[in-house]
Formats: sequence, C-alpha cells, structure tokens
Amino acid sequence: MSDIPPPVSDQPVLQLQDVEQSYGWSTVLRGVSIQVRRGEIAAVLGAKGAGKTTLLQTISGMQSPQAGSTVFKGENIAGVDPSQMVEQGLSHVAHGRAVFTHLSADDNLRMGAYTRTDDQGVAKDMDAMYRYFPVLRNCANRPAGALSAYPQLLLAVACALMANPDLLLLDDPVKGLTPVQSAEFMDRVVQINRERGIAMLVTEDGNGSHALSIADYGYVLDKGRIVLEGTAATLREKIRFAAQGMPARRLQETM
Ligand SMILES: Nc1ncnc2c1ncn2[C@@H]1O[C@H](COP(=O)(O)OP(=O)(O)O)[C@@H](O)[C@H]1O
Ligand SMILES: [Mg+2]
Repeated sequence: MSDIPPPVSDQPVLQLQDVEQSYGWSTVLRGVSIQVRRGEIAAVLGAKGAGKTTLLQTISGMQSPQAGSTVFKGENIAGVDPSQMVEQGLSHVAHGRAVFTHLSADDNLRMGAYTRTDDQGVAKDMDAMYRYFPVLRNCANRPAGALSAYPQLLLAVACALMANPDLLLLDDPVKGLTPVQSAEFMDRVVQINRERGIAMLVTEDGNGSHALSIADYGYVLDKGRIVLEGTAATLREKIRFAAQGMPARRLQETM
C-alpha cells in the first residue's frame, strides 16, 4: 500500500448500469445505476427491505445480476464468484460480521490476507490494523470469539482490509452499535479511506445519518430503485426537508 493515497478521482472503480435482481418472482433491484469513484466514500441509504444488502451481494458476486452491467476496474464482473472478487481487489464485510471465532485475531488477519504473497507487506498491514483498532490486541493470541459484537465487527473490517482492496463494501456496519460506537467507527473508516485511498461503499438503514456524515456521494434506494442521488451534503439537506414533509418527487425535481 502506498503511503500517499491518491485523491478522489473522476475515474470510477465501480460502475453499475441498469442492474436488476429478483428472488423468484419478486423483483428487488430495478434498473439500479450507481458508481463509486477511486478513493471515494459512497453511501446507499434506504428503508429496511429497500434492497441494499441485495445490491452489495450482487456487486461482490454472492448473487449474479439478472440484467444490467456491473463493471469493476474496467472489467465486467457479472458471474465472478466472491473469492475471485477478493483477488481482484473488492472486499465485502457482510452484515453479521463473520470472523473465525475459534481463531485468534492474528490468525483471522492472516486469513484475510490469503490472496497476498508479499509477507513484509502483510506484517506491516497487521501492525496497521492493531493501530487502527487497538481493542483487537486483547485477542491477538486468543480466540476472537471472546470479543464482543463491536470488536468482532472491527476484526471483520480489519480482515477485509488485509486483502488490500481497492474497494471495500460495508453492509450496514453501524446496525446494533451505540451512537458513540457508530461515530467512532465512522471516524476510523474515514481515517482508513484518507490514509490508504481505499474506495468504500457503505449502506445504512433509514436516513443513513452515520454513512452520510462521512460520504462524498450518496444514493437513496426505495423499493429497489434509486430515487435520489447527490453529494452527501446535498442529500443530507434533502433528507432534512423530507423529514419536514416535502414529497420525494418534489425533492427530486429540486436536485
Ligand atoms: N434470500 C432471500 N429470498 C427472498 N427474498 C429476499 C431474500 N433476501 C432478501 N429478500 C427480500 O428482498 C428485499 C430486499 O431485501 P434486502 O436486500 O435485505 O434489503 P435491505 O438490505 O435494504 O434491508 C426484501 O423484501 C427482502 O424481504
Ligand atoms: Mg440490509
């Protein structure tokens, strides 16, 4: 990893065009077009059931899109499986924060780096993870199952980072966290984005106030459609108006 990250560029690292997804007869994503630029933090917000988790699963290869194009670093990734996506530079922290509870944090981090052959880089990044998330030191050599839910989330994120991704997908990471933990978590996400230049796509249920507080750009998903998008500052303002009763269509017209 370079010490001087590239700034946000206009070059998209991820581009989705008219993506459709369904479960059986039930269509869950309808013509979704979004992009994440290199070095950018993008947020996807929306009510529970809007399709955010399905969207991230469709990007990371856990599901294949039924229509539309998904392009990562200029390559079509439809149908590429999740482990290959990790090799290509896309890591996904799914909701539920799977870590190997019987393995130590050290071993979890090594597992996270399974695609890498640069041992010195891996050792340096393990040190970096303990600096970003000092609480993980408590389990450096003990089973990670001894960690409570929040540190387990941090370990899951650290493991995803150990793959040295160009894009990190974070599915509703603050769900279940206290406000203090959520704010601390988002501070750390920004620090990592700034220091490492890793683009991030973060989802959050509801008005997404935590994700929008750190994002450069955001999208609002409603029943599988993108109904609003804009810079995070613009979206925050529009959501504030919406909360005061302005209908979604009027909001869209004012963008
Ligand atoms: N495995 C599944 N099988 C059938 N329906 C699903 C499945 N997963 C999600 N859904 C449905 O798809 C819709 C979108 O769900 P999801 O992507 O989890 O939304 P969100 O993450 O925004 O809450 C919801 O109506 C949900 O009930
Ligand atoms: Mg979800």
